[in-house]
Amino acid sequence: MGYQNIKFPENSLFLVTGGAGFIGSNLCEAILNLGYRVRCLDDLSTGKQVNVDLFLSNPNYEFVMGDIKDLDTCMKACEGVDYVLNQAAWGSVPRSIEMPLFYCANNIMGTLNMMEAARQNGVKKFVYASSSSVYGDEPNLPKKEGREGNLLSPYAVSKRADEEWAKQYTKHFGLDTYGLRYFNVFGRRQDPNGAYAAVIPKFIRQLLHGEVPTINGDGKQSRDFTYIENVIEANLKACLAGSEAAGQAYNIAYGGREYLLDIYYGLVDALGIKDENGNRLEPIFGPDRAGDIKHSNADISRAKELLGYDPEWSFDRGIMAAIEWYRENL
Ligand SMILES: NC(=O)c1ccc[n+]([C@@H]2O[C@H](COP(=O)([O-])OP(=O)(O)OC[C@H]3O[C@@H](n4cnc5c(N)ncnc54)[C@H](O)[C@@H]3O)[C@@H](O)[C@H]2O)c1
Repeated sequence: MGYQNIKFPENSLFLVTGGAGFIGSNLCEAILNLGYRVRCLDDLSTGKQVNVDLFLSNPNYEFVMGDIKDLDTCMKACEGVDYVLNQAAWGSVPRSIEMPLFYCANNIMGTLNMMEAARQNGVKKFVYASSSSVYGDEPNLPKKEGREGNLLSPYAVSKRADEEWAKQYTKHFGLDTYGLRYFNVFGRRQDPNGAYAAVIPKFIRQLLHGEVPTINGDGKQSRDFTYIENVIEANLKACLAGSEAAGQAYNIAYGGREYLLDIYYGLVDALGIKDENGNRLEPIFGPDRAGDIKHSNADISRAKELLGYDPEWSFDRGIMAAIEWYRENL
């Protein structure tokens, strides 16, 4: 279980694109803690300088400010690299509906540039962030690889396109690619601010600042919320997977199912938030969001079998750790 005992060849160099963001900065930190070298490539478009500053004093860490939409930048960033963990992309379903052209350029062409640069530089493994959004309107639960529906947003199209390109790079060029379909990741350093913030950090920030959170829809939607430690484990184990497991995408989740309303009340209770009458603070209910699905939870058996993924952080354990972090850092 976990990743603490994972071993790579001595002096291995990882390139983490999007390393100034939430997931990427956690990957950089884990790799440094394991004693390996990491190069972070980020254009700071949604990432933060503070997530870079955290590691700058570590001689095993290097920051490259650059855009994966530029092939030359990707080529230089891949020099000498053993493993690429490609996280750079813009998230958010609603924003992608507002800016389809940008999502195509950034999330599809950017990742394609990275694959091309990885191939030309002889990178051993190309692990990249996909998303549960590739399941679209497929109603059956749990979500299972190979059983995808119609896509519901430009963001989902971008992740699906990345998966298709990755298959081509494995098939024609022998680049070992592993797509990781993350399901609603949460944990330390996830941005709680802005119109497109993810629900858990947003609710925690609002509750800690005396605001009343709004739930889109009735709150009875469910998700397989996945703690960041499990995502780190999946990335590192994918780097050690065999070539027979390449050219595929894998569900990366805990395999649980949490309802939004339960999460809301759980946070309110954990933080001890009351209304002016001393009662548990009730949320505001807003309209459903376009492009959202009602329920999502994952079958993680493929990742268990082929990547050796064995997540050790349940939702309950992860949410307590996340609350603790935000209490200290917000
Ligand atoms: N957080 C989740 O729940 C979740 C779920 C499914 C998939 N994902 C995927 O995981 C990856 C990481 O997501 P995150 O939540 O850490 O988001 P994030 O916004 O915190 O991090 C993304 C990082 O990529 C950088 N970036 C974006 N475009 C870039 C470009 N053209 N060149 C260089 N850097 C660029 C940003 O500056 C940012 O630092 C993304 O690919 C995202 O689509 C995340």
